[in-house]
Amino acid sequence: MTSPSLSFPPDFFWGCATAALQIEGSTEADGREPSIWDDFCRNHPERIHGRATPEPACDHYRRWQEDLDWIGKLGHNAYRFSLSWPRGVRGLDFYDRLVDGLCARGVAPMATLYHWDLPSRLGSWENPAVPEAFAEYVELAARRLGDRVTHWMTLNEPAWSIMNGFVTGLHPPCVQNLDRAFQAGHQLMRAHHLALARLRSAGVRGKLGIALNLSPVRCAGTSAKDRRAARWADDYLNRWFLEAVVHGRYPQAAARRLRFEQVLDNPQPVDFLGVNYYYPKWVAHSQRPTQFHLNTSGQSQEKCQFSLQGRLQFVDSPRAEKTEWDWEIDPQGLEDLLLDLNRSYPGLPLMVTENGIGLREDPSCQDDPQRIAFVEAHLQAISRALAQGAPVKGYLMWALMDNFSWLNGYQKRYGLLAIHPETLERRPKASAEWYRRVFQTSAGSKS
Ligand code: BG6
Repeated sequence: MTSPSLSFPPDFFWGCATAALQIEGSTEADGREPSIWDDFCRNHPERIHGRATPEPACDHYRRWQEDLDWIGKLGHNAYRFSLSWPRGVRGLDFYDRLVDGLCARGVAPMATLYHWDLPSRLGSWENPAVPEAFAEYVELAARRLGDRVTHWMTLNEPAWSIMNGFVTGLHPPCVQNLDRAFQAGHQLMRAHHLALARLRSAGVRGKLGIALNLSPVRCAGTSAKDRRAARWADDYLNRWFLEAVVHGRYPQAAARRLRFEQVLDNPQPVDFLGVNYYYPKWVAHSQRPTQFHLNTSGQSQEKCQFSLQGRLQFVDSPRAEKTEWDWEIDPQGLEDLLLDLNRSYPGLPLMVTENGIGLREDPSCQDDPQRIAFVEAHLQAISRALAQGAPVKGYLMWALMDNFSWLNGYQKRYGLLAIHPETLERRPKASAEWYRRVFQTSAGSKS
């Protein structure tokens, strides 16, 4: 099955990614405080498929040793997980044991410091006190784990937090206001730079970065208005955050257009850029009323919609192969993205920190040829990007196991490990063994 066209450096990182809220459960254990997602699920059960909640998720908080054994058995040499800020200092005891367990199995611990589970008491990212509160938490984490974590990611997908939290309003705090979106985005970028400064001053040994959701933007029309719409999408969905991270400032022309005057104090460089890639965006001009919809049912006739009146809409690609959740499958987009990043920021190390496919699978499913085909095609894309000089350092598949897929509840399954909904028993799917064989043929993995 493994394609001969896959070629990777010997020190390549191979593994999977997860996030605390999506796998841990135990949301009231050991003094954990509520997060905005716990509240959202409690207050708006009708917005989440099957009225699901992050409880018990995969019960990873209690079954973490078994999960680490799986990571070891599957031969991964890296694991990306997130720290649950709502667990506070006591939670760091848990991550301390987790990191020790990874090191004992020869797996590089890669920690995301924030993956959407903002403590409720802080309100939202519009609150200008949040970045400093985050930096204080980061400092505690740095002191506790800084001698062993190999890669730190400050934030997961700030653009997606802002897009869904403050533009579409589909995620908490469910606001629909562009001005407020950019102000909240600014607090996230302040938090990112403050966090990097604290990690550096704490003298952590790992490399410092962030995981950005990035999508090549493809113009779906031929008019000047369509081209302007595509530029707008690229400027604000990709370049806004990229420039703020890499150069510590917002892209000038894009900021001027919005009369956005905020600046980032004491910007910090990153050692690597985490790239979360799922699908490209096809963009055209639109006069349609502003409207947003995400397919959360997995019924392919339910279309995702994103239109900002007078500005743009996302449209179907002319040749799209799609998942049941209406997400386009386009491995070429990943190659294009990695090459574009290497052109824009030559030599900046890149890591694919998320990529995977959500499928509707029977809980007892072990055969997942669609996932194998998806990952293989994306690995080929990375391999081609590497051959053209893009400095890609690793691939972390989303996800280690089926998990709480936000608005999609538990029906949309991403895991190498299937989680039985009642017993929570873990079972490897065919992709888990396939993935192991892929990197066994590459010198960088444990065999
Ligand atoms: C990324 C997130 O945006 O996409 C993950 O970082 C998420 O947390 C993944 O689960 C897939 O999205 P979804 O909504 O299908 O679970």
